[in-house]
Amino acid sequence: MTTSHNRVAVLHGVNFDVLERRDPETYGGLSLLELETRIGRWAHELGLEAIFFQTNAEGEFCEYLHRVPELADSAIVNAGAWTHYSRAIADALAIAAVPTVEVHLSDVDSRDEWRRLSVFDGLVLTKIAGKGPDGYRDALELLAGELGTAA
Ligand code: DQA
Repeated sequence: MTTSHNRVAVLHGVNFDVLERRDPETYGGLSLLELETRIGRWAHELGLEAIFFQTNAEGEFCEYLHRVPELADSAIVNAGAWTHYSRAIADALAIAAVPTVEVHLSDVDSRDEWRRLSVFDGLVLTKIAGKGPDGYRDALELLAGELGTAA
């Protein structure tokens, strides 16, 4: 059973178009399409409808966030390296103003020092990191609870 407030925009940032070419030890070796397929299936099981976006251009990421309130009721954001320094994307997240979960495949808090900072802190419901693709399922479950679609 789905409701009219069940849409989740899943945004991936810079370098996710070549996810399968990134260090498999860190990122698992799967492609973005494989990751999105899993996310779409989990979303469906939770009564959510996932829509997907990826870009390597920071401005396009901001422009998509501007449209998110028309397109979706909530968001999952993995902005890659932009997470750690893009105040422009942080401002665009504030403009989008939908319930948002930040997800990272890798454990950003146990890698390089500079990955520990997220400029999205305070703008997202929570940050889920280091769980690989399963982190997105956790994020979807959390958003399903927020949106009231959970069974
Ligand atoms: C990442 C972590 C970031 O630090 C990195 O720059 C990425 C991927 C992750 O999903 O683990 O591009 O967001």
